[in-house]
Amino acid sequence: MAMAAPGGGMNAFLTKYGEKEDLNQYWYSNHTIKVMVDEVVANATKACFLSTPSIYFSLPKKSEVRKQSWLFDLDDQWANLPNYFKYDYNFPEQIPKELHGTFDYIVIDPPFITEEVWEKYGEATKMLLSPNGKVLLTTIQENAPMLEKLLGVKPRQFAPSIPHLVYQYALYTNYESDPLAEVNPEIPSWD
Ligand SMILES: C[S@@+](CC[C@H](N)C(=O)[O-])C[C@H]1O[C@@H](n2cnc3c(N)ncnc32)[C@H](O)[C@@H]1O
Repeated sequence: MAMAAPGGGMNAFLTKYGEKEDLNQYWYSNHTIKVMVDEVVANATKACFLSTPSIYFSLPKKSEVRKQSWLFDLDDQWANLPNYFKYDYNFPEQIPKELHGTFDYIVIDPPFITEEVWEKYGEATKMLLSPNGKVLLTTIQENAPMLEKLLGVKPRQFAPSIPHLVYQYALYTNYESDPLAEVNPEIPSWD
């Protein structure tokens, strides 16, 4: 059961969509979604959400960034959306050419933590990102050296809460951010 954020209601995405085990779906918590959405809104004009549907769907409705942004995910329950692409990370070459280099922000949370999978997401990210674009991703802390080489990202103090996942993930960006330099009160022991 997802926890309501202090002073806030239940996130509509978490209320509506269950996690599908066969697709390794593990949603961020209500509070973590809020912090990540605020970060996207503060930094992006057009974002691509690679395997991160909870953040895409929690962008403020009718905001310009929501209108411009795209969801890339294998789960085609969202195939009726105009800005959905049925993305399988195994085939980055299938990403439509007209979207290459058009996003100034990319958010990533793959279904697996291995280097082989990250290389595929890295390939897609480099295709999609515009020059000087920003990247935010989540995975295990042990991936830090590999991800610094692959995408120039570093782990930040704010650690995401993913209530049904056994690992504690770290959150990485390729830029400095004051809100992400704060401890997440959901994970007080994180250091
Ligand atoms: C660990 S979950 C990340 C979800 C994220 N924490 C959120 O709250 O939005 C992995 C995501 O990858 C998607 N996925 C599973 N297999 C995939 C594949 N082969 N290619 C691309 N996405 C995939 C799932 O549908 C799911 O949204």
